[in-house]
Amino acid sequence: MFQFPTVDPIPLPAPVWLFKLLHIVTLTLHLTAVQLILGGVTVAGIWNFFGREGSSLKEASNSILKKLPTVMTYVINFGVPPLLFAQVLYGRALYTSSVLIGLYWIGVIVVLTLIYFLLYRSVDRANEGKAWWGYGIVIFAGLMYIAKVFSINMTLMLRPEDWQAIYAAGGGLGTSLPTGDPTTTPRFLFMLAGGIGLSGAAMTVISGFGDEKDTTKDVLRRWGGILAALFIALQGGAGLWVYNSQVAAVKAGLFQDPMFAYAIYAWAGLLILSVVAAAAAAFGSASRARLTSTATVLFGVLATGAFTLLRDRIRDVTLLSKGFDVWDRTVVANWSVVLLFLGLFVAALILIGYILFAIARSARQMALGATVPGQEQMMNEVLERHDDQ
Ligand code: HEM
Repeated sequence: MFQFPTVDPIPLPAPVWLFKLLHIVTLTLHLTAVQLILGGVTVAGIWNFFGREGSSLKEASNSILKKLPTVMTYVINFGVPPLLFAQVLYGRALYTSSVLIGLYWIGVIVVLTLIYFLLYRSVDRANEGKAWWGYGIVIFAGLMYIAKVFSINMTLMLRPEDWQAIYAAGGGLGTSLPTGDPTTTPRFLFMLAGGIGLSGAAMTVISGFGDEKDTTKDVLRRWGGILAALFIALQGGAGLWVYNSQVAAVKAGLFQDPMFAYAIYAWAGLLILSVVAAAAAAFGSASRARLTSTATVLFGVLATGAFTLLRDRIRDVTLLSKGFDVWDRTVVANWSVVLLFLGLFVAALILIGYILFAIARSARQMALGATVPGQEQMMNEVLERHDDQ
């Protein structure tokens, strides 16, 4: 069997199943936001390039762009919890692979900061009526870098047999990248296809609930629905490729696991439902856009949850075949801390929901030319203070 670093002698403060549940729930939220940012930048950037000044395509591209800085906050904030849970459960494998590609892994922080900054600069340009697709290309390249580094790390952690050679090739400096893993590229493309698909679904939602002009809404609904139907179907194909790229022992192990079988049927069913709902959003009547767009996004997010579960099973079966059993840990549960954590976690989710609602409400009021509650009074106070000076 392969040599994993020895397990941390400190016992786990909560059962493994609870860590896994929290990991899958928070990772589903992260991967949902990741898909929205990947697809959102791609589609909005292309539309910004091709759209003429004042055209519905340009307006639709700007409308998507202005939502992306908020999406980015969720990519990051929903990325931290699964990273912590993954380190608790798989630290021996994940820390090792992270150190082996250390230079690229640390580089994620630099690239992330840059693309976050450029997102805001792009929004500034859109507000000034200028094109921003040039920035969009750099943001897209940065996102591809981060997504690729994540895919490389999450697959390298499953290959202890390659660690020694990669360490030697990088001279211990973390400068060497693994090659030849047949699972990395399908995993990466799977996320990319899902990104455009789920972003298309989100565009139909903007068309159903947003305050854009009717012509812009039509572009978002029609094209969003077409992209969602097409790319969610493509994601299904990429999922098959991910499965086929696994070695025979892993494939055999997966179907012995009832959880995997349930998740794969749920995922396939949800993909079909979201493709049908997306087609209905694209080609059905505009008056039903709210219903069809909500259904498309709902099925899309649930499908993301199902594939997050499948992804988790693939990892556990692969690691088990190499002698790493994630369930084999000493647990000394500290329930008071666990309950405190769960209470804060649920409170945070409610708060996030409220913030999203408040942002949507104030955006609508501003679009309608009305002031946000308290805004007028605040402006008057600022002006009075200015006059006094
Ligand atoms: C724009 C920025 C980001 C992009 C494009 C991105 C993309 C991705 C992708 C594509 C995966 C799936 C990799 C695979 O399994 O093949 C992933 C997984 C993950 N990402 Fe992100 N990510 C971003 C930012 C972050 C940040 C800032 C964090 C944490 C601070 C984070 C934490 C994670 C974790 C923990 C996983 C998976 C862990 C696991 O397998 O258990 N991500 N991300």
